[in-house]
Amino acid sequence: MTAEPMTADIVINGATLVTDSAMFAASIAIKDGAILAIGAPEAMPDAAEVVDATGKYILPGAIDAHVHFRDPGYTHKETWETGTASAAMGGVTTVFEMPNTNPPTGNVEALNMKLESAKKAYVDFGIYGLLGEDNLDQLEALIEGGVAGFKCFMGNTFGNLPSPPSGAILEGFEIVAKHGYRVALHAENASIMARRSKKLRENDCCDPLAHLDARPPVVAVEAVSRAAILAEWTGARIHVLHVSSGDELRPLREAKARGVDITAETCPHYLLLDEHAYTEKKSLIRVNPPVREKVHQEQLWQGVADGTIDMIATDHAPHSHAEKHNDDIWRADCGFTGVQTQMPLMLTQIANGRMTLNQYVRMTSLAPAKAFGLYPRKGALLPGSDADIVVVDLDKVVKVDSALLKSKGSSTPFQDYETRGAPIHTLVRGRFVMRDGELVTEAMGHGLNVRRIQKMPTPRPTNTHTTTRAILEKRGKRY
Ligand code: NCD
Ligand code: ZN
Ligand code: ZN
Repeated sequence: MTAEPMTADIVINGATLVTDSAMFAASIAIKDGAILAIGAPEAMPDAAEVVDATGKYILPGAIDAHVHFRDPGYTHKETWETGTASAAMGGVTTVFEMPNTNPPTGNVEALNMKLESAKKAYVDFGIYGLLGEDNLDQLEALIEGGVAGFKCFMGNTFGNLPSPPSGAILEGFEIVAKHGYRVALHAENASIMARRSKKLRENDCCDPLAHLDARPPVVAVEAVSRAAILAEWTGARIHVLHVSSGDELRPLREAKARGVDITAETCPHYLLLDEHAYTEKKSLIRVNPPVREKVHQEQLWQGVADGTIDMIATDHAPHSHAEKHNDDIWRADCGFTGVQTQMPLMLTQIANGRMTLNQYVRMTSLAPAKAFGLYPRKGALLPGSDADIVVVDLDKVVKVDSALLKSKGSSTPFQDYETRGAPIHTLVRGRFVMRDGELVTEAMGHGLNVRRIQKMPTPRPTNTHTTTRAILEKRGKRY
């Protein structure tokens, strides 16, 4: 008896495959949403569909660990449909979505509301649960309910979620550490910023640069250092969001050297923009933490080169045009769209020789997949991995144009930037969600919660620290 010959759903021929460590010409076969084979074209099985990608590059789809899709609650800014459509168009196959929605994702009821909205997703997603002072008793239920990690707002930002005091952060870390999940941090010190911005406002300083003045690097350095200490003592895994200053690199390097499981991301706007943006873009550039002086940009590139910064994420934070544009800087909402422009902007940097394609794959796919327990199902071009693939044309020159962004809040500080290199096809688990530069609208709803595949992470050992729960249990009390 002869076995049925294996057939694939799709074979892509002619491209160069790029991983974090290698680049080679190969065909790739896809079956049932996964990568079936990688190799010489003549070694590929028959396929229902053969795609010619001669001269193009195949990368694992980008995993953006930091997006705000505003849904539920602020759906005039963005929805799951528009946000994930923008991701698909940008070569992003998985996103991690933030809890500062309305209601905030602080309990299971709110999480279920969000999971309902997320049924329209084009791409796969993880959901951050909120770690706040008032919902520490909900964290384990949120894990049970399907979050992929937690987010703690150490400093105030859009949504005005109160920043938990250190005691609550420590206790939250104790709870999450037991389960091995990662806590992502908006690492800015709330009280320093509050005092500075109050003084500036009282003195009628409402020009764009007043925003930068209210948030000097020490704001971030203090919070990163404090978070690293609390993580070190509790064994919590942490992720520092939107690293904006060169000064944060030292506490990051020191914590990594001490063995703290700390990862860090920066965003294209910190790598590509500097203080001139405040004169050129006015209130549109307002973002937390702020875009800083040129010297920080140079140091951040250094942190990218030496691995202190693990990932590039976007902090996709859309707002309406009116919310972004105001002569009074304090009245302009913070953040801007980004999930669709990250890849062309960063590929342009590769064309300019600032980083390699392998480094790029490491920072946008491999590192986030590993940090959130998705590797090797995601973040890799390997047989058996999900066929989350982006086909890239490295020669394609496109001008960033907010009119072409699928995001609702499409104000971008990169308007009219000429980019070199663009995604042309995006596949999520073997299905085209963007094809020849066009959104595949029938693929709406294809996205799945990555918690369905997430490996349960192993908790890390802690040092001599005794948790609040253990202290109570020792006395025969309940936590
Ligand atoms: C974000 C938002 O709008 O939700 N804004 C921002 O300036 N980055 C919140 C955040 O990430 O701090
Ligand atoms: Zn933030
Ligand atoms: Zn954010």
